[in-house]
Amino acid sequence: MEAIILAGGFGTRLRPLTYTRAKSLLPILNKPMILHLIDVLPSSVDRIILAVNYKKNQIEEYFEENDCGREVIVNDEPEPLGTGGAVKNAEKYVSSRFLVLNSDIVCSLDLNEMIRFHKKNNAVSTISLWPVENVSEFGVADVRENGCIVGFVEKPKPEDAPSNFINAGAYCMEPEVFDYIETGRLVSMEKEVFPQIIRDTGRFFGFKFDGYWMDIGRISSYIEVHRFLMRLKKIDNCQGEKCEVHGVLKESCIGDNVFIGENSRLYSSIVYDNVVIEDDVVLSNCVVGENCRIGGFSNLKNVVLGDNEVLDKRSNVENRLIWTQPIPMGYPDKQVGNVIGE
Ligand code: GTP
Repeated sequence: MEAIILAGGFGTRLRPLTYTRAKSLLPILNKPMILHLIDVLPSSVDRIILAVNYKKNQIEEYFEENDCGREVIVNDEPEPLGTGGAVKNAEKYVSSRFLVLNSDIVCSLDLNEMIRFHKKNNAVSTISLWPVENVSEFGVADVRENGCIVGFVEKPKPEDAPSNFINAGAYCMEPEVFDYIETGRLVSMEKEVFPQIIRDTGRFFGFKFDGYWMDIGRISSYIEVHRFLMRLKKIDNCQGEKCEVHGVLKESCIGDNVFIGENSRLYSSIVYDNVVIEDDVVLSNCVVGENCRIGGFSNLKNVVLGDNEVLDKRSNVENRLIWTQPIPMGYPDKQVGNVIGE
């Protein structure tokens, strides 16, 4: 069985981290986000098609150097085709029923169970559904008792919402779905393709599941997923190789070759490889990119440093994204499109 993984977005809400790195390669607990997903694919998935665009060379190189135990095809888009266009672009590699997965979701969905549900309903398409409290930020499914979805309502007021279930970013599909997507143009799966399948076939289903679901779209959820997974795995911190820690880590994750000076304290923070944090520094809810240096006696709260940034001693910074280098060519200044929420 083939699984198409959507990994071509710019990840603008995760800038400046995504100025230098594909979003799907951002580490979660020191392992690329996309591997967390690949590791839980059903064993029936023997071929993965990565739908890529932005930073495609990085992704290609990563999978050339690291074997994930399944055949991986890196399928490039000449320009961003959106979630629907990316699926259509992979049609040539798909032989039968297939999965489509957003690369930026961490969740407890059992894909085998979803496939069984899909078969039982003789569905053309089944999507995973997750309940939320804040319906007005999402596209909400109008879902019947038997799981049949009859429509979506975009960002409804709570009193107008047909349910509290949203698209959770994993789909099981029959090849006839390709007939609903035009070739070679930007197509949104959610806004254009799903409504047509619902209208034409009435065999569009939603699969609800329990446990956890996190969309790693923003810095806050990127930090939160670390905290969440550390608690789930019952570990206090996560540390790469060759680190020298003279300070204290609390619910924090550091990469390889990180130096933390005396009396420095990290709370709910993520530090990438090859970073020096001098003495008496406090970080709370921060992400520090590769090769950064933070001068002694600094105090940072809700701060993200892109790769290769240097902060002077006694820097006192709150609520800032720090990036002093040129922004990559072609990188959009706002979201191109969005799949889940705003
Ligand atoms: P933002 O810019 O912060 O919204 O992030 P994003 O670009 O990743 O968009 P979003 O979170 O809505 O995307 C959800 C999933 O679809 C992610 O796994 C993206 O990599 C993927 N995706 C979004 N747009 C495209 C596209 O045009 N082509 C491909 N191949 N994947 C896409």
